[in-house]
Amino acid sequence: MKIIEAIDYKTMCKMAADYIITKVCENPRLKLGLATGGTPLGIYNTLIADHKKNGTSYQWVTTFNLDEYVGLTGDDPSSYRHYMNHNLFNQIDIPLSQTNIPHGDVQDLEQECIRYENLISEHRGIDLQILGIGNNGHIGFNEPGTSFNSKTHVVELTSSTREANSRFFNSVEEVPTRAITMGIGTIMKSREILLLVSGESKSNALHALLNGKVDESFPASVLKTHPKVTVFADKEAVACLKVFR
Ligand code: F6R
Repeated sequence: MKIIEAIDYKTMCKMAADYIITKVCENPRLKLGLATGGTPLGIYNTLIADHKKNGTSYQWVTTFNLDEYVGLTGDDPSSYRHYMNHNLFNQIDIPLSQTNIPHGDVQDLEQECIRYENLISEHRGIDLQILGIGNNGHIGFNEPGTSFNSKTHVVELTSSTREANSRFFNSVEEVPTRAITMGIGTIMKSREILLLVSGESKSNALHALLNGKVDESFPASVLKTHPKVTVFADKEAVACLKVFR
């Protein structure tokens, strides 16, 4: 696992965005795995600015998002489909038909998980997956205790995750209790992974990742067994490591 420290959040986003842009230029048909939440927003803004200024094209790129809330339709402002359309897809030239996010509003959730897992396989897997990390080490919505072999599945969200995500809703009660997420096994099949860690609130998680053992009680620890992971961390996230060093 390679660690890249950035002086601040803006620089971290620029470095990660430049990395993604290089990959898209090298392979215009890149299969790109995407995350939502607060951390990637600066990256998406940088990709949009680059697209407008330099014309980097996403016309042939296919995307797969990590997760979606159960019970929200794609036009719900709190859904991850809405987040992605608003924060990235509608501002670059990617056809929406090439953007994939689990459908959280279907009757048969188990079937949807199978469909999504198969869809990724049919595209011969993800070339580059972007990840954030939860305070408890979750990746996607794979909470502590999730099997490292898991495929796309339905999860019950922990109260800490619902609390952390309540900033995107009017109240914590409005945060759905379930989500569909790529499994840890699904994520690990990606050929390359970028993990983004920003802010003081994530420094304990980063410390646990770098210094703890590989264990299902801390989902992100599995990344230490992947051959090609780069961690982009900003100064605030790294601060706590300096204390421990
Ligand atoms: C988002 C996702 C989550 C977030 C994580 C960090 O699609 O799967 O694992 O990456 O919760 O969220 P932020 O960036 O808001 O701190």
